[in-house]
Amino acid sequence: MQAFRWNPPKSSRAARNNGDARERYAHPDLRESSSLFVGQVVAKAATWQDPEDVRELRTLTCTGIVAIKVGKRFSQRGLHAMTEQSFDPLQYKAKQRQDWDAVAAGWKKWWQTLEQGAQRVSDRLVALAEIQPGQRVLDVATGIGEPAVTAARKIGPTGWVVATDQAPQMLAVAQERAADKGLQNIEFLEMDGEVLDLPEDGFDAILCRWGLMFFPECAKALARMVRLLAPNGRLAAATWDIPPKVPMISLAMGVVQRELQLPPPPTKAPGPFSLADTRTLEQHFTQAGFTDVHSEPLTVPFEFPSVEDYVGFQQEVAAPVVTLLADHPPRRQAEIWAAIAGAARQYATAEGRIRFLNEAICIVGRRPR
Ligand SMILES: C[S@@+](CC[C@H](N)C(=O)[O-])C[C@H]1O[C@@H](n2cnc3c(N)ncnc32)[C@H](O)[C@@H]1O
Repeated sequence: MQAFRWNPPKSSRAARNNGDARERYAHPDLRESSSLFVGQVVAKAATWQDPEDVRELRTLTCTGIVAIKVGKRFSQRGLHAMTEQSFDPLQYKAKQRQDWDAVAAGWKKWWQTLEQGAQRVSDRLVALAEIQPGQRVLDVATGIGEPAVTAARKIGPTGWVVATDQAPQMLAVAQERAADKGLQNIEFLEMDGEVLDLPEDGFDAILCRWGLMFFPECAKALARMVRLLAPNGRLAAATWDIPPKVPMISLAMGVVQRELQLPPPPTKAPGPFSLADTRTLEQHFTQAGFTDVHSEPLTVPFEFPSVEDYVGFQQEVAAPVVTLLADHPPRRQAEIWAAIAGAARQYATAEGRIRFLNEAICIVGRRPR
């Protein structure tokens, strides 16, 4: 493996400027190849007619706006995801940023409850990625800092974690948590997980816990990730299984959908369950260029002291549910929350606690040597 010289900043901070990140982290060779700017992309559009070029170009732009326009205008082949739909990935991502920012304080408040179950997923991802002391690790869609914090502990002071998310409020909480734990080997960067402007061959491992499902073009994001890994590096990610196997989330979503008579979401729309089919998920990994792809189920228990706690958790943490209810009058919202509480009672233990057993899917793939 080629020697890599890290250039970590003196102190961690969330950087809005991704070009800055590329400069600070760049492998000496990569520093020579400057990022593309939107203006340059426009100028190049007329000559870049191959879908491969368009994909590359999209990966390199910060916003993707220009690349999508290029895709529509110049490429007739292989760009279905960019051309066929009325679904607007950029609008969707902007809304996602807003929605997750809105629940960042809730995530901070409920973190311990969440991690009682979720920590085992971080542990499993770190094991699957074979993370060792001294390594360079990228966490994509870190939220308020997992599995970045677990990885930072594993790699120790000689390693380095870059933790990214596109929601700045989530990142702010993540940064606070890392500081509280005295961790100085993590840096947090505000960055779209589909447009990772970081050096290629730059990471020994990439982790993503419950983030890929929210990417409109997950397959392309994976193709980018494989290139950020050093040869033999591993990507380990977690997604959720089908709704009936994840009652902690699907119970509230199901009640909201029923009460509001919402049509089922389009099959390909991103969301908590969009990568529940392990065959498709594995195919995405293989097509992106990963080898030794392996997926496995992992049971994740979540427990709440009472129904009221479960409802409070949903109200403050579950961005997709909160978003669906947001435009309805408070009385109607209260009725629906009461219906959610009623439905949750079937999960009560003899002591009155609410306990859900949920199935996550952990998947790992390796970049070939
Ligand atoms: C369910 S949370 C998971 C957070 C964390 N990894 C964990 O397991 O606790 C999903 C996260 O994905 C992030 N996210 C959604 N779409 C994203 C995108 N396009 N780029 C980066 N992050 C994204 C959200 O901001 C949110 O923090």
